[in-house]
Amino acid sequence: SKRTKIKELLGSKEYGSTILAKGWVRTKRENKNVAFIALNDGSIIHNLQVVADPNEIPTETLDKITTGACISVEGKLVESQGKGQRVEVLASSIEVLGLADPEKFPLQPKRHSLEFLREIAHLRPRTNTFGAIYRVRHAMIFAVHRFFTDRGFLNIHTPIITGSDAEGAGEMFRVTTLDIEDLPKTEEGKVDFQNDFFGKETNLTVSGQLEGELAAMALSEIYTFGPTFRAENSNTTRHLAEFWMIEPEMAFYNLNESMDLAEDFLKYLVNYALTNCKDDLEFLNKRALDEEKNKKQEERNELSLLERLQFVADNDFERVSYTEAIDILRNSKPNKKKKFQFLIDAWGADLQSEHERFLVEKHFKKPVILFDYPSEIKAFYMRQNDDEKTVAAMDVLFPGIGEIIGGSQREERYDKLVQRMKAFNIEPDDMKWYLDTRIYGTAPHSGFGLGFERLMQFITGMGNIRDVIPFPRTPGNAEF
Ligand code: 4AD
Ligand code: MG
Repeated sequence: SKRTKIKELLGSKEYGSTILAKGWVRTKRENKNVAFIALNDGSIIHNLQVVADPNEIPTETLDKITTGACISVEGKLVESQGKGQRVEVLASSIEVLGLADPEKFPLQPKRHSLEFLREIAHLRPRTNTFGAIYRVRHAMIFAVHRFFTDRGFLNIHTPIITGSDAEGAGEMFRVTTLDIEDLPKTEEGKVDFQNDFFGKETNLTVSGQLEGELAAMALSEIYTFGPTFRAENSNTTRHLAEFWMIEPEMAFYNLNESMDLAEDFLKYLVNYALTNCKDDLEFLNKRALDEEKNKKQEERNELSLLERLQFVADNDFERVSYTEAIDILRNSKPNKKKKFQFLIDAWGADLQSEHERFLVEKHFKKPVILFDYPSEIKAFYMRQNDDEKTVAAMDVLFPGIGEIIGGSQREERYDKLVQRMKAFNIEPDDMKWYLDTRIYGTAPHSGFGLGFERLMQFITGMGNIRDVIPFPRTPGNAEF
């Protein structure tokens, strides 16, 4: 017979039918009359209970069935007598496909620390927590494409190897086709990367935005969803060297319309998870509640994970200008007595994560969209406002996360753009391809970037970004 996935079996009412299930053993409990095997195949968080009668299944087979082993089970689907599951399988035959030496298999049926699981990233999908995370991650990928497809946006693949620095921040990984020894040297004897990619200087992309803009200037509404790379040496719970970003780019949108889209998008994704990932989110919610117990009182969340998700889905985000936010911070006392160390000359400074978190978690107690930032602290492509001090930028800040989206209206006026490039020491001749869109049929346009792993942190309640991507790339972490 054909294999049926456990998700389908657990929802089936075809009692008495013969089924074939395959998966990995989570636990086995046995006495001399019967063995109960909890089997999981990743299709759902719940296990299939397999009941094995030692008169039917040889002892030497049962002995090989240990936590982590892979088995194939044929048997009869029946209504379960036990608590906790509706159906179970009475095994008529079991084949052990793969052993897992109980002396060596690192995952035992208990809760392992996330730090330990990070060290065995190749095996951690076998845990309930990571099974849940990867299923939610898939659902979110699907929901991203559905959201934009429903609105007529086209998905554009932008290059991963590129000659441009989209953010102008210089945090790029170089790409080379040569052995380091063969790279030409400068006069001072340093490696000269000018000619590394078949004679051209290239790096891994930090963002698909600039290429996305080129597409939007023909197709109106597009989005990218690809890997992006940042060579910043930051070891935080919110930064990866390789992360996935979703970047919509829309012709004819001003900043407000782009903020509306960002808010609708985030609410859609949260609602999609609440509707389609119920079992996994319930598990993650319990897990997050357990974690809360280990936190200091003042760091505990007032709301559970599920309550936080529902709150974001149901409530409007607060929209505040950077200047208003600075005033709020100036007049606030985050820890009863002391004000922020941030003061008189604060206007113009970039907000630190403590400021962002104060605004979101303590002051407004809801997601916040900050807009109209000082032009000096934002990228060259952002549109200058009439005040000549600020640009039409926006950041969406989320509770527990901080910045989840960054975006702006783009500078569509050729002269102003060139002026800003020069102010940022970017040579306009190097970006002729970008400037051409401002010469030929330029149009107002806007866009933003959602950090997919930060979204995943919010949805799953995981505190460390390394735990929401299958193979995290951080400084000193790229073994496989
Ligand atoms: O704010 P960023 O750098 O903006 C851009 O790259 C623009 N080109 C986006 C656009 O307008 N099209 O990054 C956007 C988002 C951040 O808000 C954050 O969620 C995420 O990407 N992000 C990171 N996520 C994980 N690790 C990192 N090192 C990240 N850097 C940014
Ligand atoms: Mg940003």
